[in-house]
Amino acid sequence: EMSPEEQHFQDKIDNDVKIEPKDWMPEDYRRTLIRQIGQHAHSEVVGQLPEGNWITRAPTLERKAILLAKVQDEAGHGLYLYSAAETLGVSRDELIELLHEGKMKYSSIFNYPTLNWADIGAVGWLVDGAAIINQVALQRTSYGPYSRAMIRICKEESFHARQGYSAIMKMAFGTPEQKKMAQDAVNRLWFPALMMFGPSDKDSVHSEQSMAWKIKVKTNDELRQQFVDQTVPQIDYLGLERPDPTIKWNEERGHYDFAMPDWDEFFNVIKGNGPCNADRMENRRKAWEDGAWVREGLLEHARKKAARKVA
Ligand code: 3HC
Repeated sequence: EMSPEEQHFQDKIDNDVKIEPKDWMPEDYRRTLIRQIGQHAHSEVVGQLPEGNWITRAPTLERKAILLAKVQDEAGHGLYLYSAAETLGVSRDELIELLHEGKMKYSSIFNYPTLNWADIGAVGWLVDGAAIINQVALQRTSYGPYSRAMIRICKEESFHARQGYSAIMKMAFGTPEQKKMAQDAVNRLWFPALMMFGPSDKDSVHSEQSMAWKIKVKTNDELRQQFVDQTVPQIDYLGLERPDPTIKWNEERGHYDFAMPDWDEFFNVIKGNGPCNADRMENRRKAWEDGAWVREGLLEHARKKAARKVA
């Protein structure tokens, strides 16, 4: 039985009235948003590591400049999202501490290594491609600050996917050795990219409630299907082999049939046992500690400035 506030809240959700920070909301709605937005922000920040690793080794100055711009964008996306999470009464420092303590997650895809330059192309094309599909849907999320952050992030994301596709295209149409590298990158990153959409709907613990509250406007499987339908023709265009031999166009469904990732691997990776989990966290803790003196200096400067104003 819903209380009058809950009923009023649900009416707003059902009528696509955005929920704003000052509005009444069920505690679980707030908690789910802090969890999802916080983990989304962590994904943006940790997501800089695989690509950051290649900025100094980009094959040309132009590619270095493009990658630098993309990694910088991801830091900004993290900032927007931490700020959106802060409107729910949690601080960025708390969220980052929970991440470092292993109590919050970030997208599993970033626990896979980027072994060579073809991976950088495949990451831009597949990982940002998947993130765009997820984030375009999230522009319609019921929580105002999150929806507005998504609208702004989506404006920058398309460049991320396009630059990746153009990098991998150069290799797919390049020398036989380059084409082999492009094929290997797609083979290694395809199933981890499918995992970005979360477990299948029947195994998704949060989906039902998140859909009822329009935190999620499309289910994990719907978005995954959209990603597959969009990406298979691109793989074909590149003249690369499909990384999943069972992929097949299904006329009556009007979609591609495809194999699901190995969910045991997925749950193992999000439990912390992926190829790169340990050094991603090590990297983040070190960056946090190395940056402490900058934060303290800025805070001290802000305090002095505020004190001068008062005096
Ligand atoms: N990686 C890590 N954890 C994942 C995951 C993934 N790919 N998919 C699901 N999970 C976790 C969920 O967080 C949840 O665990 P929790 O309760 O501890 O949070 C559990 O698995 C069950 O999954 P559910 O489907 O029930 O959970 P959700 O309803 O939260 O759906 C989601 C998962 C689709 C990822 C949803 O949280 C979401 O849309 N999040 C916002 C999008 C996001 O985080 N994107 C990151 C992509 S990378 C990125 O943005 C950077 C890009 O710019 C390069």
